[in-house]
Amino acid sequence: MSVKFGIGNNTIRSYRRLAYTPWHAMAEFVDNSSQAYFNNKATLDEAYAAAGEKLHVHIAYDADEGVLSIADNSIGMNLEELARALRVGIPPENADGRSRYGMGMKTASCWIGNVWTVETKKLGEDTAYRVTIDVEKVADGEEDLPIQTFSKPADLHYTLIRITAHNRRFHGRTLGKIKEFLSSMYREDFRAGIMELRWQGAILSWDEIDNRLLRDKSGALYKMPFNFEINGKKASGWAGVLETGGRAYAGFSIIHSGRVVKGYPDSWRPEKIYGGGGGRNDLINQRLIGEIHLDDFDVSHTKDDILWYNDEEEQVEAKLEEAIKDYIAAARQVKKNRSGDGPSEGEIDAALAALKQELLSKEMIDLIQVDVVPSEEDIKNARHAIAAEIIGTEPDFIAKIGEQLQVAIFIEEGMSLNDPYVIYESAKPDQVCVIINQNHPHFSQIEGTEGVANYFRHCIYDAIAEWQAARKVGSIDPDTIKSFKDGLLRVGIRIEQSDPAA
Ligand SMILES: Nc1ncnc2c1ncn2[C@@H]1O[C@H](COP(=O)(O)OP(=O)(O)O)[C@@H](O)[C@H]1O
Ligand SMILES: [Mg+2]
Repeated sequence: MSVKFGIGNNTIRSYRRLAYTPWHAMAEFVDNSSQAYFNNKATLDEAYAAAGEKLHVHIAYDADEGVLSIADNSIGMNLEELARALRVGIPPENADGRSRYGMGMKTASCWIGNVWTVETKKLGEDTAYRVTIDVEKVADGEEDLPIQTFSKPADLHYTLIRITAHNRRFHGRTLGKIKEFLSSMYREDFRAGIMELRWQGAILSWDEIDNRLLRDKSGALYKMPFNFEINGKKASGWAGVLETGGRAYAGFSIIHSGRVVKGYPDSWRPEKIYGGGGGRNDLINQRLIGEIHLDDFDVSHTKDDILWYNDEEEQVEAKLEEAIKDYIAAARQVKKNRSGDGPSEGEIDAALAALKQELLSKEMIDLIQVDVVPSEEDIKNARHAIAAEIIGTEPDFIAKIGEQLQVAIFIEEGMSLNDPYVIYESAKPDQVCVIINQNHPHFSQIEGTEGVANYFRHCIYDAIAEWQAARKVGSIDPDTIKSFKDGLLRVGIRIEQSDPAA
């Protein structure tokens, strides 16, 4: 007796539920374009030289129309290759590079939208092909896909994928993140000068961090190569120590087949080195940075991490820690040498001068002279109305501070420039919502990660201090609030100075 095991066409419906991020989904297409280039490098280099171009991949996204398109001038596919490309789970002939499981284009397309078209033309052929995949129809069993053909010149080569009927919409900061992640992911291709990647028309590039690294007394950069093996699998890369801390920059970028799978701006922070829980804001988490190539390891289905088997990750962490231990020590040292630094006299003078200008301005005098102010009642009502709407949405993050307090932070881009810079709401005794208006004119004056962090810090700590004053001593006296805030402002330095090994 036997039973038949089958994976029906309707499996394709499940792809929309995969754990992709928008940038990892989009990267599937760039992986395909670039891998097709690597597989046909000699032929394409010749064609590019003749045409005075190089590999380019353009990603364009229209949220309103719900269209994502990815266009490249890579080798293209002939009919046989296109037919094979549409089979799920049939790995490519060369499965060592960025094309691995025979899934990416299908899973990423279906995750994004329900109708997608592939049009492709292989170099040297005289026909271009176009095929449309309608997820619902395929899932219902319509698996014979009609192919349109077009006569085209032999020297034309491209693939164009157009995805519509979207399952999700990307907006606001997500669009910025897509750009940032894609720039980071393909840094190796930018370094090698082999690919021009565009997002919404803009050419993406990668800023090297060498000039932000610490130098020793002899002037040498704190940047060291390392390599080691575990179970016959090679790992190599470099580690460095940043001169001035930046939590956003620290951590390792994991590179597989020349593509960052997990890295800046969401770097890998191995627990053994950076501590648990995604890393604290101590010196290691602010300064230790690097890249690690793990080509011999497997990648996850969505190519957003290494697929660690058994205790591989712990082994890699341990070997890495051993290889770079001097740098870990150096990263921990930096601040000690410069302890009590803070801003210089000059920086303080410059800041005071700028503020003095602001205080003495005509605009300030006008503002102080206004004596028609809205009533407390009106202010409260207006704030409640705005807050009520926002609190129903997903916060940017929630911090649970011990058992007593939960802080939900909303960085709002939907508010108007006339709305308050910050709103606090405390609907429950153990909860504070902090809504920061990203469209307030002051927000546009803030520069850099440090500037933003500091602004957010004050907005959030004011809220917590008010909560502490109200809940703990039942007083909203300004001095009480300030004394609580004073305590909060001392937390950061304590974390920096704590010894993570302790
Ligand atoms: N832009 C492209 N240029 C050339 N070939 C492509 C392109 N996109 C996809 N293909 C072909 O389609 C195949 C299937 O792609 P995909 O579903 O991403 O799986 P995989 O990349 O793992 O093979 C690729 O191996 C490649 O042969
Ligand atoms: Mg692929």
